[in-house]
Amino acid sequence: MSSRFYSFVGGSTGRWSVTGVSYVAGEPISPVDRLNIQNANTLQLPEGAEWILRGVTSNHRYTTKDELESLSQVQPQLNREHATCAALIPIKKRSDWWDLPQDTRRDIFESQSRHTTIGMKYLPAVARRLHHCRDLGEPFDFLTWFEFAPSDSSAFDDLVAALRESAEWTFVEREVDIRLTRI
Ligand code: HEM
Repeated sequence: MSSRFYSFVGGSTGRWSVTGVSYVAGEPISPVDRLNIQNANTLQLPEGAEWILRGVTSNHRYTTKDELESLSQVQPQLNREHATCAALIPIKKRSDWWDLPQDTRRDIFESQSRHTTIGMKYLPAVARRLHHCRDLGEPFDFLTWFEFAPSDSSAFDDLVAALRESAEWTFVEREVDIRLTRI
């Protein structure tokens, strides 16, 4: 069985080459040339690496039964041959988000922001995996990972722009948008 841990190692080796970085909100991270993704909890910084961001896959928090069914019909797997572009977008939300009750967070996430509804429009072009890291004491709360074909890059930009306009995003205090291509 594969581990629920994923470690994103930024440095000079790895299958993904960094093509651009946007510091969307809050503190930047050191620029790197390459990204190595390990399906493990990598604790020691490998030689030549600048940073490791760690997260775990987890259960859904805000997704209803109907949404899960709709998602399962269209969402693709990662590692598709033609999906040679990727984005790693680490995100941290403000403490007042975490102070809210679950139902209020769901209301902001979907009823107000239409996160899943908007995202669904970009499936199956975009494959994704959400990693949680707030409870690991990591600098970000989430590591979001997306893969898509070069021809879907501008659609992905539209998706990200739409989410950043949402009520949910008013709670984002730190966000770095790292774009990559597969070597
Ligand atoms: C969470 C769908 C794109 C950032 C979620 C969840 C769903 C979802 C269903 C809720 C998981 C749960 O129930 O816990 C999608 C779809 C997308 C998409 C279908 C289309 C590709 C994006 C993008 C970003 C993003 C582009 C970043 C720019 C996040 C974050 C969370 C999340 C940070 C966690 C929110 C929280 O727990 O507070 N997404 N998403 N998503 N997504 Fe997306």
